[in-house]
Formats: sequence, C-alpha cells, structure tokens
Amino acid sequence: MIRVTEAAAVSAARWSGRGDKNAADGAAVDAMRFVLGAVAMDGVVVIGEGEKDQAPMLYNGERIGDGHPPEVDIAVDPVDGTSLTASGRNGALSVIALAERGSMFNPGPCVYMMKVAVGPRGRGAVDVNASATDNLKELSKRLKKPIQELGVVVLDRPRHDDLVLEIREAGARVLSITDGDVAGAIATGWPNSGADMLLGIGGTPEGVIAAAALQGLGGEIQGVLHARSPEEQKAAEALGYDFSRVLTTDDLVASDNCFFSATAITDGDFLRGVRFTEFGATTQSLVVRSRSGTVRTIETFHRHDKLQEFTTGL
Ligand code: FBP
Repeated sequence: MIRVTEAAAVSAARWSGRGDKNAADGAAVDAMRFVLGAVAMDGVVVIGEGEKDQAPMLYNGERIGDGHPPEVDIAVDPVDGTSLTASGRNGALSVIALAERGSMFNPGPCVYMMKVAVGPRGRGAVDVNASATDNLKELSKRLKKPIQELGVVVLDRPRHDDLVLEIREAGARVLSITDGDVAGAIATGWPNSGADMLLGIGGTPEGVIAAAALQGLGGEIQGVLHARSPEEQKAAEALGYDFSRVLTTDDLVASDNCFFSATAITDGDFLRGVRFTEFGATTQSLVVRSRSGTVRTIETFHRHDKLQEFTTGL
C-alpha cells in the first residue's frame, strides 16, 4: 500500500505550486491506478474521490488489483488537499485504505458529513450530536487538561463561522485548516500535534478514510450525513441513507484488520512532503494496520530512473 501512496504523492508533488489542481489530482490518480494494478488482490473501489468537483478519479465500483484473493474494499484519496498542492501550501496527503470486502461504508451521493474525531485518549468522550461546548467539557475531563489548552481542528469555511465562535467562547483554541481534514483527523491521534479534536462538516469519503486511520491509531470518529439542500437529502433518503443516524468508527469501517497508508505531498504536522533531489525523490509516509495497532513512519529514497515508471505529466 505504501508504494501506492508514494507513487501518487511523487506524481502530485511534481505539480505542487503550479496552480493546476486537476493536473496534480490526475497525475496522482494515474500513478495510483498503475501501482494498484500490480497488487495481488481482488479489490473494489468503494470510495473513489472527485465526484464532488468533477476531478479525475478512480471510479466507484472500479475493479483494482491482479484479480487474485484477498477480496477487499478500497478507499482512495489520491490527493487530499488538491488546492493545497496546487498552491504549494502545507498539509496535502495522498491516502489509501483497504479492508475486507463489504466492510466500508459506501457514501453514495452523500458528499458531506458532520464529523467529530479524537485520538485514543479521547475515545468515548465525545458525541457528534452534542454541542461543541459540551464536547470540549467532556474531552477536557477525559484528557485532564483545561479547555484553554485544547486545540480543535476546523476547516476554514463560512459554514463553520458559528462553530468557531462557540469553540473560542468555550475557551479552546481553533486550529484552522484551509483543506485536508484527513490529516486533521489523524493529527488528533498523533502525539504532541497540538490537535485534540476535529469538528465540523467535511467530505464523507474523507470521513471513511479517516476512520480507517483512526481504527489503527486507536482514536474515534463519528459522523452524521449532511445534505446541502432538501432535494439532495430527499434523493439520498430514497436510496436508503439515514440523515439522523450516527455513523461510528466501526460503521464507517467495520473491520479490525484494515490497512491505511498516507504519504505527504507537501509538508505537514507529522510528515515531511516530497523532496526532489539530483538522484530522485524522498518521501515520508505513515502506515497503520488496525489488527496489530502498529504505526510506522517510513522515509523512502526513490531513484530517478525507477521513478519514471510511476510518474506522469511533467
Ligand atoms: P480535495 O482535495 O478533494 O479538494 O478535498 C479537500 C477537502 O478539504 C477535504 O479534506 C475535506 O473533507 C473537503 O475538501 C471539504 O469540502 P469543501 O472544500 O467542499 O468544503
């Protein structure tokens, strides 16, 4: 799996700072698909990314791998933070999650979800239906830290204006991100990141991928589907989606044996982004396996001549 996100990250990084988010996403998708094709598995893409904004994508339902067992579900986000990558800003990741067939929540047409995520020590202390103030009080008790010392990751969007005010009024610190709430959710489970909780409305696919990561990191995410309009909600309800249901970490990824890999495209809180050198490139990745709970950070040196096989575009 790490080869998959490394290849995607290196390909996307070639477009970093060049102002073309579709080119970055397209390069990552191509690299990801190419490497995934060589993996011994019978995979189905449950979560491809891009429907929200017509970006290039690995299609939902696309079969991936060499067709041999194991049968698995795959969730991909070749670039979480396409705008971050295009503008050369921090926080973009290439991510993939893999688990047994049938174990991943399929978001279908449901683009957004209200989320709360916490790290291992906060597990069980928060409730996505509770107010931010109540969640902060409970988390503060659990972590034995004053609310004033809690950091809450929130996507910088007008829809979160009231949420941000409430968090600040409760006394906590807002860690505002312009994009990339998979990295934001992981940060809550990363020691000394300064992030204790993630709150707010973000992508549903990103929520499922974050659940796979948090399964391994020992944290928790809860989500409630969020529709942008009554029409969107009605159409999704007709397909059986329930907008009042709380989706727990286990509902999002019902597996105690899922794999998660993330490679940084640009620098982030816990991984350094791709660096190109005269001999090739270096990457830093995070690999998590939920059954063993192992969390590995891996630095890789890629030789330029070999990289040619994976990279596209420039
Ligand atoms: P992309 O990289 O696909 O653009 O997604 C970035 C992201 O910030 C996600 O991390 C987040 O879940 C989602 O977009 C939020 O959606 P929106 O930008 O529409 O508020």
